[in-house]
Amino acid sequence: MKLSESMIACIDAANNWMSARARAKFGNDSPSARVLQRRFKPCELEEMVGVTRQAIYDAEKSGRLPLPDLKNPESARPVRLGYTLQQIDTIRDEFGTQPYRPDDAAAITISIAGGKGGCWKTSTAAHFAQWLGLKGYRVLVVDIDPQAHLSMYFGYHPELNTTVEDTALPYLIGEKSSLDYCVKPTAWPKINIIPSHLQMQRIEREVIEADIPYQAHLMLYAGLQGISHDYDIIIIDGHPDLGVGTTNMIAASDIVLVATSTEVNDINSTCQLMTLIRDLYKGGNNLEITHEPVVRILPTKVGDKTSSSQQNLKDMRKFWGDMVLDNACMFTEEVGKGQRRMVTVYEQADSSERSTPNAWKRATSSFNELFTEILETLVKPMWGLSNDEK
Ligand SMILES: Nc1ncnc2c1ncn2[C@@H]1O[C@H](COP(=O)(O)OP(=O)(O)O)[C@@H](O)[C@H]1O
Ligand SMILES: [Mg+2]
Repeated sequence: MKLSESMIACIDAANNWMSARARAKFGNDSPSARVLQRRFKPCELEEMVGVTRQAIYDAEKSGRLPLPDLKNPESARPVRLGYTLQQIDTIRDEFGTQPYRPDDAAAITISIAGGKGGCWKTSTAAHFAQWLGLKGYRVLVVDIDPQAHLSMYFGYHPELNTTVEDTALPYLIGEKSSLDYCVKPTAWPKINIIPSHLQMQRIEREVIEADIPYQAHLMLYAGLQGISHDYDIIIIDGHPDLGVGTTNMIAASDIVLVATSTEVNDINSTCQLMTLIRDLYKGGNNLEITHEPVVRILPTKVGDKTSSSQQNLKDMRKFWGDMVLDNACMFTEEVGKGQRRMVTVYEQADSSERSTPNAWKRATSSFNELFTEILETLVKPMWGLSNDEK
């Protein structure tokens, strides 16, 4: 077999494997098949909805809310099956407890950037989006990495069901006048996605000749302005390069989180990205620029107390001070194993999808602390400010 033929055979085999796994788990390999199987216990409701359990039960009894799904409806002592995320959203509507941004505040755009591949950008972006989705926020995730891993987290696979026409590329090179065409639903009730595809790489070449209404680095910013009214938070997952996609991502952001692996050599990759940001915002470079984003370091790959990552993290805090978030992305097997099980930590429904109850608890609680810090200390204060002040 010629080399090219054997490469094609290998690619086909891998794609068939991907598709077969999705079909075995979800019935088919489309994004809509990945409906969240997880149900939430009554004891989890109070925090998710923001009212007491008793108030919810009373609303069910009085008919203001539908009766709950029951495990054993025939029995004299029926037990609740737990609530789906969709049902929880209906309860929030009934009690007026949706957590949306104030009407006069804009959606906040957060990018998870990084100077290096494999520093946990995409996995963190996917989990952050889903954590926000569980809380009831309206989220748009934007994948501009040609490797499209964030898209795959939501079932959009470049070889199975997505083409370059579904990505932001046609807009970024002037073939479309808005981003509306590429906003797609996910199986999560309040998360939409702009997926990516390997051919997103064409932006680097094609933008040079493109007939576009703004400077090339402002196209994504302008496009997101046109659709941001539907969302509270927009999360962009980038590619570890210093190209047009990355400058667009930075210029579109209110907050840039630089995922920095706590390994000695990786700190240098973050410095390279910081140099790009400096050049973009230093003035005198003929680039029109919007507001300056808030930039923070998001430490990743942090292991247990005795690991060298903890020592490196201490040093990072010394030389970068307040730039570094208080919380970090901690190592957990649940992320890698989750890919094997085709569910994220937040999608894992029950013990059959979790390594152990404790491993799952540790994974969620460290993610929860990190995401709470981002939401409470970075995002919410911006909602309290006018656009000019941002
Ligand atoms: N919190 C985590 N704990 C352990 N492993 C992780 C974690 N986050 C990501 N990983 C592993 O690292 C791999 C690369 O992460 P990814 O988010 O795709 O990196 P990037 O987007 O920066 O290239 C993932 O496939 C996953 O197996
Ligand atoms: Mg990635």
